[in-house]
Amino acid sequence: MAQEDVFKKLTAHCKEYGFIFPSSEIYDGLGAVYDYGQYGVELKNNIRKYWWDSMVLLNENIVGLDSAIFMHPIIWKASGHVDAFNDPLIDNKDSKKRYRADMLIEDQMAKYEAKIEKEVEKGRARFGSQFNEEQFRTTNPRVLAVAEKLENLHHRFVKAMNDMDLPAIRQIILDEEIVCPISGSRNWTDVRQFNLMFSTDMGSTAESASKIYLRPETAQGIFVNYLNVQKSGRMKIPFGIAQVGKAFRNEIVARQFLFRMREFEQMEMQYFVTPGTELEWFDHWKTVRMKWFRALGFPEENYRFHDHEKLAHYANAATDIEYKFPFGFKEVEGIHSRTDFDLASHQKFSGKKIQYFDPDTNQTFIPYVVETSIGLDRMFLHVLSSAYDEEKITNANGEEDERVVLRLPAALAPVKLAVFPLVRKDGLSEKARAIIDELKYDFNCQYEEKDSIGRRYRRQDAIGTPYCITVDHQTMSDDTVTIRYRDTMKQDRVSIPHLRDIIKEKVDLSMLLKKL
Ligand code: GAP
Repeated sequence: MAQEDVFKKLTAHCKEYGFIFPSSEIYDGLGAVYDYGQYGVELKNNIRKYWWDSMVLLNENIVGLDSAIFMHPIIWKASGHVDAFNDPLIDNKDSKKRYRADMLIEDQMAKYEAKIEKEVEKGRARFGSQFNEEQFRTTNPRVLAVAEKLENLHHRFVKAMNDMDLPAIRQIILDEEIVCPISGSRNWTDVRQFNLMFSTDMGSTAESASKIYLRPETAQGIFVNYLNVQKSGRMKIPFGIAQVGKAFRNEIVARQFLFRMREFEQMEMQYFVTPGTELEWFDHWKTVRMKWFRALGFPEENYRFHDHEKLAHYANAATDIEYKFPFGFKEVEGIHSRTDFDLASHQKFSGKKIQYFDPDTNQTFIPYVVETSIGLDRMFLHVLSSAYDEEKITNANGEEDERVVLRLPAALAPVKLAVFPLVRKDGLSEKARAIIDELKYDFNCQYEEKDSIGRRYRRQDAIGTPYCITVDHQTMSDDTVTIRYRDTMKQDRVSIPHLRDIIKEKVDLSMLLKKL
């Protein structure tokens, strides 16, 4: 499905059911900024907790931190962000729209890839069970022609980006005859560098104010607290510091819903290691982080690593964990081996020694760092778009029907169970409320009495509630209720005292954590 169609569908669903609202909507919104509604905030909190517990609860050598957003401006000089946190951007003179030049080229490469896949599918349809995919990919002339173009383009692109050769980036766009999606024209400006940091002034008077930046990553808050945590926690290397917090980037390419926001949240963990061991730890964290994703139960083949060819200024190895969104494979998390770049640079700029004395080897060194960095909002979009399903069903009257269901992992669902009285009389409402009063300390519960049971199920399906409990007349005589499962829509009759255990078994976060 095209990216715009997916976003349109998800945006509409998220708004209708209280997950995500455009920021400042009554003033026509603010580009690439979003608010989380009543269910969105619950889902987001659950994802955050899943990440936090997987780091801080399960690893005795990883501790948490919550550093301030405002930091000393020299930090961003030391980190390289003032000089190098740039995107190459280009404007189309006819539509007056601005694009990231590297993304226009990446889209072009994705088009070549899609062309190859189309040829492969055609071959598969033509040869049926005789089809040998590998042979087809390596011998079919049309596939080979496109693959050659793709490889050439890829080679030029990597070189131009590594050299940050802006005229060469522009030349690729011209040579590939890339057009503006809005105007359809090839009337491009030069490529320019654009710094992504937001800045503001701190201080009470214009004269005394100093320019400070809104942090573009949470990582620097961890680096500048490395000594504080290491000393006060008497941490021995290897150890990690985890943090979740807001980050801000003045992104050029908006219109990507939660995928690329200007204000977003990161969940980052910096793991401090002995120099020379960093690539082992890099592999370790790749494995651990992939497991974290896979424990959610979405199809395994939808995840892949994408190793970086163009390394950031601070890294000696880097990979992305990509998820196959309905609009293609995209980065959700970055894992980077950052060497001692950051600590060494802060040592230089601050003039303070940032070192570690290893009592086992009697050596003093600046630790190396392996970081795992995932966007909470982007993870939210991954979970939501993977869970979203439109399903054809047969309703209670035997008619064809359709339902929208969010097949969220139960531990992440915003509401764990909804309790319905079949009718609003004969004490059924009171009984339903009594069940909630019992269970509300353990689970996020919801009471619903409006509309038919079928419509109530639909509403809960649309927000991903794994269990619906119905209180009927039989309940009043034998203390049993029906429990209806979101994914299968099957129902069982169970006794009320068993409800807590039945539900807990599936919705407890520990069920996810135990898979790690
Ligand atoms: N400290 C390393 C760092 O910040 P990054 O690859 O720039 O690395 C890490 O960002 C993660 O943060 C990305 O994988 C993505 O999930 C998330 N992220 C980055 N920019 C984002 C944006 N504009 N909107 C939403 N999420 C973003």
